[in-house]
Amino acid sequence: MNRTASTRSQARWTPDSIGDLRGRTALITGANSGVGLETARVLAGHGARVILAGRSREKLGTAVDALRADRPDARLETLVLDLGSLASIAEAAAALAERETIDLLVNNAGVMNVPDRRTTADGFELTFGTNHLGHFAFTAGVLPTLRRAETARVVTVSALAAAWPSGALTDLQSEQRYGSMSAYAKSKRANVVFTQELARRVEGTTMSAVAVHPGSAVTNLQRHSQGVVARMAIAVLRRAVMGSPEGAAWPSLYAATSPDVVNGGYYGPAGTDQTSGTPKPAKLPRGATDPAEGARLWRESERLTGVQFTV
Ligand SMILES: NC(=O)c1ccc[n+]([C@@H]2O[C@H](COP(=O)([O-])OP(=O)(O)OC[C@H]3O[C@@H](n4cnc5c(N)ncnc54)[C@H](OP(=O)(O)O)[C@@H]3O)[C@@H](O)[C@H]2O)c1
Repeated sequence: MNRTASTRSQARWTPDSIGDLRGRTALITGANSGVGLETARVLAGHGARVILAGRSREKLGTAVDALRADRPDARLETLVLDLGSLASIAEAAAALAERETIDLLVNNAGVMNVPDRRTTADGFELTFGTNHLGHFAFTAGVLPTLRRAETARVVTVSALAAAWPSGALTDLQSEQRYGSMSAYAKSKRANVVFTQELARRVEGTTMSAVAVHPGSAVTNLQRHSQGVVARMAIAVLRRAVMGSPEGAAWPSLYAATSPDVVNGGYYGPAGTDQTSGTPKPAKLPRGATDPAEGARLWRESERLTGVQFTV
């Protein structure tokens, strides 16, 4: 890739830069809300067939109705997928693995700031279990569908929180000490470290793996931020610095579709506040490219989920 040319085209990129996606299939997790819903809207608007994955059939139906209201010819399908249940993940992945070709997998779903330590159906700490382990197991399960594509890209949605010191990948399940935002930071660092390791493993193949952070936007993600002070803070932030789901989807859209994107890349909004603007390469959290950390997380994720990743 010519890096000068790449920088020039990044400066101009908007969702209007996305080419014709007819003939391509995108699967987006957590597509019924927020950033995922917007990602689905834009990809479908450019002709992609989009599989909206989410844990509630009803919410998925509402999302499809909303998207079709704007664009009746959108090619939309739904998939029930609860990332907090290995059984649901295995069932969803098996149904796809038999018949599908997926060109773009967007690992977008997430939970944040869960006030007390809760667990998934399999006993994993909820935030780490959903945001990282669920996506780890699901990506492993849909590998056959990605291999069928001429070129396939896995985009995993992280967050600026990935760089927080509290996100160090120790005590992964917050068994020794639970903090709602440190559990989130761990899960988001894991999203980046997972992507780096996947990128190393698929280098030279038809697959690539990239991560993004969306900056910040008011979505349902803040639903656990309860109490008067938290609600007031969000109201102030909403006006002052937080962006819209539309803008927050730009990094995912860029990472999923731009020819300038490189395997192992990490992208985020270019604005000085990092919450809006044309996506550009973002600063990776310190140490996230360390192969030893990637290998450790991989081994532990395989051990916990019982899923073998065949890349
Ligand atoms: N908004 C921000 O400021 C911000 C900043 C940095 C990073 N991010 C990242 O952006 C991504 C999207 O978040 P968002 O802001 O769009 O939040 P959102 O509106 O709450 O959307 C999150 C999506 O994830 C789904 N989800 C949660 N648990 C799930 C599970 N067990 N199985 C399947 N789906 C599940 C939700 O489904 P339900 O509707 O059923 O709950 C929803 O569709 C997340 O990875 C988040 O960490 C967001």
